[in-house]
Amino acid sequence: MKSLFKAGIVASALSVASVASASAGPVEDRKELMKAVVKSVKIAVPMAKGEVPFDAAVAAAAMQTINEVPDKFVKLFPAGSDKHEKTEASPKIWTDMKDFMAKAADLKAASKATKDAVGKGQDAFKAAVFGSLVKTCKGCHDTYRIKKEKKS
Ligand code: HEC
Repeated sequence: MKSLFKAGIVASALSVASVASASAGPVEDRKELMKAVVKSVKIAVPMAKGEVPFDAAVAAAAMQTINEVPDKFVKLFPAGSDKHEKTEASPKIWTDMKDFMAKAADLKAASKATKDAVGKGQDAFKAAVFGSLVKTCKGCHDTYRIKKEKKS
């Protein structure tokens, strides 16, 4: 039962590989990628806090999922896609694409560092999750995401 549950988590954490294959459009795809990110964060944070047992394989898989997002994510912002009715992407992305891409690179680097910390144990993992990983979300969202009232 327990191992079945774990297998489920690993499988869903790895599902990002399939995102953007059955494509509805760049806005849908970039949202799906962000959903994969938040799903992985929701696996990592309770483990970092010690609310669920630290499992190195699951934690590493979650970080790997996040690590694969930024390169794909930044390619999903064609000009004009800030006008899509469901997007929360700020027009600022297109006026400062270089900085936006740097923020994406921050997420990639932080997820890599957090994955590397997994092997050093829960304390190191916790420090990386809270000291680095989750800060990169806000670091980008503050400028480049306009949170809407109504969620899709
Ligand atoms: C490089 C910038 C960037 C980084 C870093 C980033 N995000 Fe995002 N995020 C965005 C943008 C832009 C959107 C809006 C996308 C859209 O609606 O088209 C978004 C949207 C989201 C959404 C809403 C998805 C939906 O269904 O509409 C979630 C959840 C999310 N991000 C979680 C996270 C988390 C958690 C992190 C950190 C681990 C993170 N993001 C890091 C740019 C970023």
